[in-house]
Amino acid sequence: MLNDIADVGRDARRGGYSRHAFDGPELELRHWFVEQAVRRGLNVETDRNGNLWAWWGERGANAVVTGSHLDSVPGGGAFDGPLGVTSALEAVDLLQARGFTPKRPLAIAVFAEEEGGRFGVACLGSRLLTGAIAPETALNLKDPDGITFGEAMAKAGYDPATAGRDDKVLGRIGKFVELHVEQGRGLSVPVGVASSILAHGRWRFTFTGEGNHAGATLIEDRRDPMLPASQLVLAARKAARDGGRATVGRLVPNPGGTNVIASTVDVWLDARDADDARTRAMVAEITESATRAAEEEGCEVRVTEESYGDTVHFDAALRDELAGVLGGVPALPTGAGHDAGILAAHVPTAMLFVRNPTGVSHAPEEFAEQSDCDEGTKALASTLEHLCS
Ligand code: GLV
Ligand code: MN
Ligand code: MN
Ligand code: MN
Repeated sequence: MLNDIADVGRDARRGGYSRHAFDGPELELRHWFVEQAVRRGLNVETDRNGNLWAWWGERGANAVVTGSHLDSVPGGGAFDGPLGVTSALEAVDLLQARGFTPKRPLAIAVFAEEEGGRFGVACLGSRLLTGAIAPETALNLKDPDGITFGEAMAKAGYDPATAGRDDKVLGRIGKFVELHVEQGRGLSVPVGVASSILAHGRWRFTFTGEGNHAGATLIEDRRDPMLPASQLVLAARKAARDGGRATVGRLVPNPGGTNVIASTVDVWLDARDADDARTRAMVAEITESATRAAEEEGCEVRVTEESYGDTVHFDAALRDELAGVLGGVPALPTGAGHDAGILAAHVPTAMLFVRNPTGVSHAPEEFAEQSDCDEGTKALASTLEHLCS
């Protein structure tokens, strides 16, 4: 099934895939999903937040829901997101072939803008659904071209006026299970279950100096915001100790000319650590260092927390139950965020991980062997069968 969609959203410039929420390739994948779901006799609907739901039989309360996302980071891999969707569809195939009839409602969900690759905040669809982000905030998030999430939703045919916490949809989810490619090298067998997700968030630093001429401006006369921006990058590496992770993956100088001293530089910091206190302390250390560097260069700095979530501990009973059903597979923590992490605050939630031999993710080299994907699909089918019996 991943081969079916292998040509959708390829990024010739970056390599890998760029499938951004409500943009051409992601919409194409949504249509593909709807077609696949309908072919299996599932009933498809879109919720008020642009998430897709495919129901096996009647939709209703106490449902078992599985699924993931179809959007990607810029230049991402083939598995992060789509594997959770294709394995859900194939798990339904396996169960239908066995003549299984679920004793409680079963649905496949596809969440919108999981990566925050277009609008900057990850898991937007699940955050809106659960009320973890206010609709006013979400709808006004802008993509790099200045298009808001609300405008993009409307253009894709969804009504932004209805976005926001949806207790009716949330109330139907009895349990949620997301299958995902493992994103590090933490798994040495084909399938595992997730134990926790690191606390993590995104911060935007805007450094303001003075735009000027690269040749005509004496060094002592400059107020160059690229200096504190660079210091932030170095401070991030230094502050990430003992398992902490701090990354600057995006830095945008304005106006961005080789012979122009930038007037402003925007820097996005992604920081993650074992718990809230450690993550906050790491970000504080980085902020202090960047602020000092800004002062030394005569620049100003504005810091905005764009998103944040504390450590997620997945439901221990459900995790152990699934590990048992799957014959004692290992449990492992992850540094990656997921819609399952957002939903875990509301319903018993679990994740299945499929081994990643490269240990690479959010890059074209992300990989999982076909045989491991098959094991994952079988594990998901057994899980759904168990939970719906
Ligand atoms: C999303 O995959 C994230 O962890 O950033
Ligand atoms: Mn993902
Ligand atoms: Mn991802
Ligand atoms: Mn993710």
